[in-house]
Amino acid sequence: MKLKNLLLAAGLGATLVLGACGSDDSSSSDTSKDESTMSDDSSKTNTAVDAEKIFANNCASCHGNNLEGNVGPNLTKVGAKYSSEEIQKIIKNGKGQMPAGILKDDKEIVAVADWLADKK
Ligand code: HEC
Repeated sequence: MKLKNLLLAAGLGATLVLGACGSDDSSSSDTSKDESTMSDDSSKTNTAVDAEKIFANNCASCHGNNLEGNVGPNLTKVGAKYSSEEIQKIIKNGKGQMPAGILKDDKEIVAVADWLADKK
């Protein structure tokens, strides 16, 4: 019985963490959270969505920091193979071992897809 309760608690904890993750993308203007004090992005004009940063945070674990590939294929010439629209579809729907829905924000999906479509 005790063990069961423990497992239940662990499960609840995981659910809470997942829930928190899923719900914090609702308001983009909420600056009360962490990371708001960082000022190192003033060097770039496009601070709203930084495709390279998004890729580093969400895709590089599988595709490599320099697009060289890892679990996922090399993407250094992906723009020669796919248009931005096709890459957006891959990001939304997944492909083979690649999970769908890694990025939720359409702006981020388009930014990363445009950036990758330039790689040829
Ligand atoms: C969990 C690992 C994983 C993550 C994270 C991941 N991918 Fe993938 N990706 C893959 C795998 C594996 C494939 C190959 C799928 C296949 O063709 O069977 C793939 C394929 C692709 C392709 C098609 C490449 C080709 O030549 O057909 C693109 C484009 C792509 N990923 C972009 C992205 C982007 C952009 C992100 C981040 C938003 C991302 N991936 C995150 C594993 C991943």
